Amino acid sequence: MSIHTPDIKRVTTHIIQEMKARGEKISCLTAYDFSMAGIVDAAGVELILVGDSASNVMAGHETTLPITIDQMIYHATSVVRAVKRALVVVDLPFGSYQGNSREALNSAIRIMKESGAHAVKLEGGLEIKDSITRILSAGVPVMGHLGLTPQSIYKFGTYTVRAKQEAEAQKLIEDAKMLEDVGCFSVVLEKIPSSLTKQVSETVTIPTIGIGAGPHADGQILVLHDLLGINKAFKPRFLRRYADLNGVMTDAISNYIKDVKGKSFPNHQESY
Ligand code: KIV
Repeated sequence: MSIHTPDIKRVTTHIIQEMKARGEKISCLTAYDFSMAGIVDAAGVELILVGDSASNVMAGHETTLPITIDQMIYHATSVVRAVKRALVVVDLPFGSYQGNSREALNSAIRIMKESGAHAVKLEGGLEIKDSITRILSAGVPVMGHLGLTPQSIYKFGTYTVRAKQEAEAQKLIEDAKMLEDVGCFSVVLEKIPSSLTKQVSETVTIPTIGIGAGPHADGQILVLHDLLGINKAFKPRFLRRYADLNGVMTDAISNYIKDVKGKSFPNHQESY
């Protein structure tokens, strides 16, 4: 229980794991700022990811590669300030953990210390096992991420479905088992066939969180701005839009412009 919010029971990594054990699906969303994170948390998701998709969604980059650890900490700090209940997980950005486990540990510690987040997420399997184990040994909870790993986009060259071939599917299953064995509390499965998600979810006891991975994952995650329909151009098959905020916002702003130009805003009541 938090000292600051005594009435609200915080979601922990254990609660997330118990949800899988009792068959309750886990709802997760991304957030990158204070205002949105407050709404997402109050609506009741169990897990908020400060994803490096902030690189695309907030900064307008084409890939997730350019975002820095300082920028991730800025986003994470803003989110943590707003969140009273959800578990807050932060992506370690590209270049902050691959190839050097000491640097990985330093990156994770900076994120935890400076933002107040509750866990970190890293992309990859066996190749980054050392980094994951070193972070875990410092008591920092780790979420894995397999399948489509956007930080490796230049290795694959495309954002299409991963692990359709047997060899890649087998490697993904082995990686998921490794993540469970070393002590990760859950794993994101991105853009893989539904049947493979089912197999992984039945093989490991840690919760699988799917995005474009079909209905058999133990939980689902979407990028908040995609769910809200803010970016009209992005429409992959896996995305269900729950609102047309692009339309709502454009109408509101157009009406404001009309009122300013027509001199009906501000009116008498809106003036001092
Ligand atoms: O950065 C992100 O938003 C993610 C999700 C797509 C899982 O990693």
